[in-house]
Amino acid sequence: MSKLRLGVNIDHVATIRNARGGLYPDPVRAAMIASEHGADGITAHLREDRRHIIDEDIGRLIGAIALPLNMEMAATEEMLAIALRHRPHAACIVPERREEVTTEGGLDAAGQHNHLKPLISRLADAGIRVSVFIEPDVRQIEAAMMLGAPVVEFHTGRYAHTEGEERAFELARIAEAAALAAKNGIEPHAGHGLTFDNVQPIAAIPQIAELNIGHFLIGEAIFEGLGPVVQRMRLLMDEARG
Ligand code: PXP
Repeated sequence: MSKLRLGVNIDHVATIRNARGGLYPDPVRAAMIASEHGADGITAHLREDRRHIIDEDIGRLIGAIALPLNMEMAATEEMLAIALRHRPHAACIVPERREEVTTEGGLDAAGQHNHLKPLISRLADAGIRVSVFIEPDVRQIEAAMMLGAPVVEFHTGRYAHTEGEERAFELARIAEAAALAAKNGIEPHAGHGLTFDNVQPIAAIPQIAELNIGHFLIGEAIFEGLGPVVQRMRLLMDEARG
């Protein structure tokens, strides 16, 4: 089985920084520590309201870290212009609502085809690897194929926030979706709500190539330190992968 990549999302280091409006804790420093402890990539979501990552962070991250940057962004002209200016390794198109606490569901890739198609083409033409953050759902995978997205990221929120039979059902949906995507030449990724306790069944899905994990890692780092926490997540993922 191929190695499963770990993308560390450092948004919530910026959340803490922004609580006081100063310069620390610095998400770039967090990205460096993550890269020294087993991360394969860094993920940052520049939200419309700049509640965590701010514009300067994107340039600073690209300048300072050797790992690929995955910029999560809403499908807006403003975000497109920023992505084209900085040219991160990857861009993940996410749905965004101002009032939400976090990205609460997948993108409606099927319903927004006409809006997304030109935006994805412009990102791809600039050499940026585009993914769409979708629910593990056949209709959304077919829409991603029609959009020409080389990567899909499955929203694991429902899996993470349920238990028992419901969780088993969600896991099966994600496994089936990953197999369907891979069969159609799309690289499946996954993320949202993953923790030490729930990561392994997702990591064991053979087609999934990358997990993007943020909130839990940054929260846990308060107690254990970011380096050891990233290292432990890496270990759990590798163990699940066999
Ligand atoms: N992947 C995407 C596309 C996201 O938007 C997020 C943040 O909501 C994550 C992964 C990471 O989720 P979490 O912070 O819950 O680990």
